[in-house]
Amino acid sequence: MDRLSDRTRLIASATRRGGGRRPVSPPIERASTLLSDRVADMRDASLGPVYGIEGTAPQAALRAAVADLEGAEHCWLTPSGLSAVTVPILALTRPGDEVIATDAIYGPVRRFLTRHLASRGVTTRFHTPEASVEQIMATAGERTRLILIESPASLTFEMMDVPALAAAARDRGVLTVMDNTWAVGLAFKPLAHGVDVSVQALTKYAAGHSDVLLGSICAREPAVVKAVANTVEDLGLCVSPDDAWLALRGLRTLPVRYAEQARSALRVAEWLSARPEVARVLHPALPGDPGHSIWRRDFTGAASILGVVLNSGDARAAEAFLEVLTLFGLGYSWGGFESLATHETPQLAFRDVPQKLEGPLLRLHIGLEDPADLIADLEQAFVALRG
Ligand SMILES: Cc1ncc(COP(=O)(O)O)c(C=O)c1O
Repeated sequence: MDRLSDRTRLIASATRRGGGRRPVSPPIERASTLLSDRVADMRDASLGPVYGIEGTAPQAALRAAVADLEGAEHCWLTPSGLSAVTVPILALTRPGDEVIATDAIYGPVRRFLTRHLASRGVTTRFHTPEASVEQIMATAGERTRLILIESPASLTFEMMDVPALAAAARDRGVLTVMDNTWAVGLAFKPLAHGVDVSVQALTKYAAGHSDVLLGSICAREPAVVKAVANTVEDLGLCVSPDDAWLALRGLRTLPVRYAEQARSALRVAEWLSARPEVARVLHPALPGDPGHSIWRRDFTGAASILGVVLNSGDARAAEAFLEVLTLFGLGYSWGGFESLATHETPQLAFRDVPQKLEGPLLRLHIGLEDPADLIADLEQAFVALRG
């Protein structure tokens, strides 16, 4: 298995599962209670889980597949991508500690940091999304325990030099947790670049069909593994076998969906960049993007999500534009098979330093539709906007 590519391994983990006549996918085993033959067996962990909270076949198969993808020793599943980010922060910080995070962190994570975590004595220092590793480390003090990395960042997609940041943090005894949803463990492997914990919203590309909420936490260093395992256990976190099964099914086709959607997104991004109505397209895979050289150096693929800064107009115009789109759904999330569009300017107001953009900020998620059809849809919306 070791020399096989991710794409092959994600499928071989289904076909090489066990022996005898069997289904390709593991059975969905719904259980709280698991019965044993003997009393002594009830204490024997080698016989498998003793209680449903530990998960049954689909959760075990999903954990193994995501751990393999992320190059981790251990993987835990959580009920959402949001909880996949918050659980390691809870596990690794104590009252009095400080967390450092980008000002462009995913909004609900920011809310967790400033509301829940702050009320328990852990403070957060936000750095500008463009800050260099030196600038970020210069803000680290005695109390800094953890750096939360999101690269590219949410909505404005700034890139960080993750290997350099992870190395600098390690030198100072500071732990790092990276939200790897954008790269899904395929296009970037945080643990191989020195990051301590890699988390994903499996909700997005991994599940891929906009019908499941699920997160994953991956780690390999014993002290970190123990802290996360204890927190997952103490909080009683578990996910349903049905949801795990759906995410596992999504994983089998993840590499082809991800690559195809990235190709379409780049085509749409290039077309949008040439439009007079568009000031900038924010997407690190686009040559000319400020994060492009880091992306080229460290990543082998890209997510199909774009920030589109319009040249002018107000929120009403931006929202009118979204409403005349016919192929883009108006809905949150990304990574599914369908294209989506949202107006994101209001979200920027929550940042410490609200970025000044030329006009409204839209977010487009590019799905598996024909990109020519998506471009035609955008074009008719621009014509309608002018009218
Ligand atoms: C970067 C990032 N991380 C985490 C999440 C949270 O995932 P979930 O919706 O599964 O809670 C999202 C959701 O949009 C996201 O964009």
